[in-house]
Amino acid sequence: MELAKTASVALALILFASTLPAFSVRAVAPPHSAAQQRRANVEPRINALIARMTVEEKLGQLQQLDGDVDGSFRAEHPDLVRRGLLGSFLNVRGAKRVNELQRIAMNESRLKIPVLFGYDVIHGYRTIFPVPLGEASSWSPADAERAARIAAREASAAGVRWTFAPMVDIARDPRWGRIVEGAGEDPYFGSVMARARVRGFQGADYGDPTRVVACAKHYVAYGAAEAGRDYNTTDMSETTLREIYLPPFKAAVDAGVGTFMSAFNDLNGVPTSANPFTLTEILRNEWKFDGFVVSDYESVKELMNHRLADTEAAAAREALNAGVDIEMVSRLYNKHGAQLLRENKLSMNTIDEAVRRVLRVKFRLGLFENPYVDEAREATEILSREHLRAAREVATRSMVLLKNEREVLPLAKTLRSIAVIGALANDQKNLIGSWSADALGKTDNVITLLAGIKAKVGAETKINYAKGCEIACDNVDGFAEAVRAASESDVAIIAIGESAEMSGEAASRSSLDLPGRQLDLVKAVQATGKPTVIVLMNGRPLTINWIAENSSAILETWFAGTEAGNAIADVLFGDINPGGKLPVTFPRHVGQIPLYYNHKSTGRPPDAKNKYTSKYLDVDVTPLFPFGHGLSYTQFRLANLQLSAQRIRPDGRLTASVEVENTGRRAGDEVVQLYIRDVAASVTRPVRELKGFERISLRPGERRRVTFTLTPESLGFYDREMRFRVEPGAFKVFIGTSSVGGLEGDFEVADK
Ligand code: GLC
Repeated sequence: MELAKTASVALALILFASTLPAFSVRAVAPPHSAAQQRRANVEPRINALIARMTVEEKLGQLQQLDGDVDGSFRAEHPDLVRRGLLGSFLNVRGAKRVNELQRIAMNESRLKIPVLFGYDVIHGYRTIFPVPLGEASSWSPADAERAARIAAREASAAGVRWTFAPMVDIARDPRWGRIVEGAGEDPYFGSVMARARVRGFQGADYGDPTRVVACAKHYVAYGAAEAGRDYNTTDMSETTLREIYLPPFKAAVDAGVGTFMSAFNDLNGVPTSANPFTLTEILRNEWKFDGFVVSDYESVKELMNHRLADTEAAAAREALNAGVDIEMVSRLYNKHGAQLLRENKLSMNTIDEAVRRVLRVKFRLGLFENPYVDEAREATEILSREHLRAAREVATRSMVLLKNEREVLPLAKTLRSIAVIGALANDQKNLIGSWSADALGKTDNVITLLAGIKAKVGAETKINYAKGCEIACDNVDGFAEAVRAASESDVAIIAIGESAEMSGEAASRSSLDLPGRQLDLVKAVQATGKPTVIVLMNGRPLTINWIAENSSAILETWFAGTEAGNAIADVLFGDINPGGKLPVTFPRHVGQIPLYYNHKSTGRPPDAKNKYTSKYLDVDVTPLFPFGHGLSYTQFRLANLQLSAQRIRPDGRLTASVEVENTGRRAGDEVVQLYIRDVAASVTRPVRELKGFERISLRPGERRRVTFTLTPESLGFYDREMRFRVEPGAFKVFIGTSSVGGLEGDFEVADK
């Protein structure tokens, strides 16, 4: 009887718990950590607060306004905070400023709801790390997490507790300037980097005052902008949406990301800042995301440009009803919310739910208990030696050695003379990229390539610098000086690429060629016959065909951040052996776009010997440099691919491993990559799909076995009925050091 009674009580408890909304079930489980403790009693506090809020105060929590680019707030802001009509800021930063506004909220407003300060801390706050595409080239989630952790420390010291990062948009079109802000073209890789960056910003509990809540953006498919033109329309199958563009966002949710940002683009005819399918059906109902969604900059108001809404009130209604909780900078929620309520075009429940999500994140940040920032932290955290050292280390690991013929690299530090050529070689502004946060305009401490080289070699090495030409100009007057500098030197290092403004937001390019006359500069310098090293500084893949063909050594450094010059010199002179890989494909010609490694076979796969196959008359269909490509100063050999089984069930797992040996004379890193191919399926599948990678360090002669595990998640796809499942049939495994070649194995998925 006793046992039966206990069982029935337990059953009753479980049944009761199951009737509660998803998030409050957490309240039933005994709280363990401080985070769970804090989260355990948040919901009742939220509901109690909402019950006391006026409609204006509720709409105020959904309003975000922007401060000035220098971090200052605007004249109207203090009074809006005092009246409870402004829930969050963009750009306002600095411990003193933030505390000044926070004191108004906590001491002078009616309900004392703390204000949330957000900012674009994309790849560093004041200590700037490589641009995200560069950091992704490290193929090291640990480095991405480390960089985000430091960015969170510096941002939170300045009162910023919310970053509009990570940008997790998949980008297959390098004409799109924002390819620089993400992790490239692959959904699996992008998911791994999204998790790492969210973890770095938030930690296990973003209530820690040295953490920030992260923001997965731009939700969703913004990177599929037609023609690579920023803000342009996107249109795709649900299969492509679910297999290519959604996974990194789901990964961010799985990592506990606290906020999302909706995007500018329309998707299949519905703007993503008013899209119930993505914002409610997928994000809320399928993924159970309980944080809040902020619009992108005035993307609510832009619903009128999309011609989804013909009035401001309609735009506000569409966005709120779809699931955009906070309106960034435009003020339609505040302006029309009350009227929409009166006209029953908006329900109070919709507004309450948006407010609930905003308050939930503010409670989880600990802002109610701890609204102020310790003003002493700025002096110790920002630009600390430890942070600068980390920026240098992450930068060295983000570099990709694209070519190194006759071992031109690494250079000897005892060279008699070195020519350093190019505008970018002596430039501080561009090295910190297009989202440089609080470092914008404060670049005196950025280490140029010229400075890094000078610091690396001895006084007896003569450095001959010549600009040659500007990044994008027609003037070749400086070529003669550059040719003379090279002629008088043992080796020439030429820094070429783009300006920071040529990538990032609103920076699409119709060509991927080197801007201006930089290619002619390279040709003029190489005509001297001196050994030449090309250092690329750019925010997207470039069609550097002539250079790939004619230059001996090419190092891709992207925009490498505050410590760029030191990091590049570390690699050029061999103190660091480069181990990065490309997270994006480099096409030969812009006409090949979109060009990505995980493409379909087609019914007529390219065949140079058969005219009637899928290819061009005027350019090779293969990439200039493939996804996953990157060389080292040493050599590695992969051998002895082993699979744990030849046949598995659809719900089974399989391990695949190889032995990796450093067969060279120098320690180095290799990124071992595992790809699968579903040989035949009811839906056409890519020729390859990345499903695992690991960057390992090996001493000369050292060998190690690297093992990957394939799960149903690895092998499944969305079938014709949009069900995710693993289909029985033959699979191939490729394990190599890029998306081309590698050791090959076979296995089968069978129902029994
Ligand atoms: C911009 C960008 C977005 C950024 C926001 C705030 O337009 O699209 O990435 O976070 O506005 O600056």
